[in-house]
Amino acid sequence: NLEVNTAQTIAKIQPTMYGVFFEDINFAADGGLYAEMVKNRSFEFASPLMGWWQPNSKNHSLNQESGIATPMRTSGNANNSDFCRIIINNDKGYQIVNEGFRGMGVIKDAKYNLSLKAANHNNGIKKIIIQFITKDKKVLGETTIVPTDTNWKQYSSQIIATETEAKAQLRITFEGTGTIDLDMISLFPEETWNNRKNGLRKDLVQLLYDLKPGFLRFPGGCIVEGRTLENRYQWKKTVGAVEDRETMINRWNTEFKHKDAPDYFQSFGLGFFEYFQLSEDIGAEPLPILSCGIACQYNTGELVPMEELDPYVQDALDLIEFANGAVTSKWGKLRSDMGHPKPFNLKFIGVGNEQWGPQYIERYKVFAEAIKAKYPNMIIVSGSGPSPDGAFFDYGMQELKKLNAEIVDEHYYKNPEWFKENATRYDNYDRKGPKVFAGEYAAHPKGVEDGMKENNWLSAVSEAAFMTGLERNADVVHLTSYAPLMAHVDAFQWAPDMIWFDNIHSFGTANYYVQKLFSTNKGTDVVAITKDGKALTGQNELYATAAKDIDKKELIVKLVNTSAKAQDVALNLSGNALESKGKLILMTHSNLEDYNTIAEPTKIIPTESEYKMKGRKAVLNLPAYSVAILKLKIK
Ligand code: AHR
Repeated sequence: NLEVNTAQTIAKIQPTMYGVFFEDINFAADGGLYAEMVKNRSFEFASPLMGWWQPNSKNHSLNQESGIATPMRTSGNANNSDFCRIIINNDKGYQIVNEGFRGMGVIKDAKYNLSLKAANHNNGIKKIIIQFITKDKKVLGETTIVPTDTNWKQYSSQIIATETEAKAQLRITFEGTGTIDLDMISLFPEETWNNRKNGLRKDLVQLLYDLKPGFLRFPGGCIVEGRTLENRYQWKKTVGAVEDRETMINRWNTEFKHKDAPDYFQSFGLGFFEYFQLSEDIGAEPLPILSCGIACQYNTGELVPMEELDPYVQDALDLIEFANGAVTSKWGKLRSDMGHPKPFNLKFIGVGNEQWGPQYIERYKVFAEAIKAKYPNMIIVSGSGPSPDGAFFDYGMQELKKLNAEIVDEHYYKNPEWFKENATRYDNYDRKGPKVFAGEYAAHPKGVEDGMKENNWLSAVSEAAFMTGLERNADVVHLTSYAPLMAHVDAFQWAPDMIWFDNIHSFGTANYYVQKLFSTNKGTDVVAITKDGKALTGQNELYATAAKDIDKKELIVKLVNTSAKAQDVALNLSGNALESKGKLILMTHSNLEDYNTIAEPTKIIPTESEYKMKGRKAVLNLPAYSVAILKLKIK
């Protein structure tokens, strides 16, 4: 028997309560959300012909009886200096092939927009034939470009795919003899999210959109910090014309065991403008996180000296101007020139990712003073270390409290037991302290140390139990997000992850559906749900939170049963009068080890049914290992 009182409001739920955390890890951006299909399109990878090869050759210098591809370095564009020179000696049909990001996904009858820059020395090359091929060289669609200029010129064309194939490649065949230079060989599906050029994969954005996230945190994670300060994420290098954005090695590259060499680079085609635009598209508050002048925790901790911190702070101030400034301001003008004269209405900014200790506090102070002096209403998110259980975490919290920090970003990757035990984590949290951003969390079924495991139902149901505690404490917990968000099935460094994809499919894990249930059934005010006057935080392996939605006039009760047995729960409802008919959303699965896959993407998903009350009582049978949401209209 549980008591639910809709008249007893405990806390306001922030619109930002459930959001998403995006980082370019696991091919989430290049090779994933960013719809570019050509890997190393501008020949800027550390090994400039990586991703490109000639059929029947083990390396790029073979196939010399008909031609040779040579990386060159003098295009005149400082940020995109490399290009590829192809010299063809005879008309035997010299070819190069781009392998894509573990292949290219093409869908029957879909259109793909190709563009490239070429300079056809002496006009010796008569034709360039561009084709999708399978690994057995079957052609799946093609187009032709006639390079007409001896100087650099932009060409574009379209290929229509004749079949669906997740691992196609792009083959380029040259007719004629002579020398031709190529750069920015780019290919996008015509259909992207909102059909934008340089756009994002529609299916992946749709999954984000469906979550109705309160915020979008970007661009990471460790990627913000970089392994060295030199490799930190610098937003200014990710805006403006796409071809002028400097390609950089991904911070996650070296953790990548692929073929002979790790091949994970950031093209920044998905840069800060696109992140702001995506936030707007999915109705989420943008939440950028910037480097605070400390390199990644896994590094020995390169620190910028205090007297050299200014450019870092200036980056933060300029970012606010980029997002919100007048079109007459320097950075506001750039935003406008990129197609968004209206401000992005940035309200939050994060300083540092997982940093801690006196070095962090010292630097954070400088940022906070400068930001507040110029933008007093900007809400600053401060970092904490990677583990919320350590002494450095307590130190950071104490110091941040003294500084009246507004929101602290906590991260936890723990085993499922931890998540259940921590449903009470914020029950005794200092109500006068900084608000909480549970910025990265995921239950790792075998523990983080044991590494990378699947998104099984055990992890998802444990997270649901924990999330009841986040929601019950919505007065202090203002933002929450699962992490990491996305992973390519053939290219990942970290798992579990919330959304998985290959080059044509994508699906939400059980964890995704738990997030979606909470996010799309959030409510506006937490109301009391108790057993014997206490919150339900694991007694008999039951967890609960209740909220009402003042705008939709609804009561929303969330119940989680982590036990192996079904349990009957009776809700005694007091307060507002309620309609007797409502909706019951249920997610349950008998095998805790099971998980969704590309082949079975909907194995574990919620189901909905009509619910009928018995008088003022709602009686529910909660199956073993289940998450239930009961929604009743308030009269
Ligand atoms: O989410 C993966 C990584 O975990 C993030 O980059 C980092 O912030 C954390 O350590």
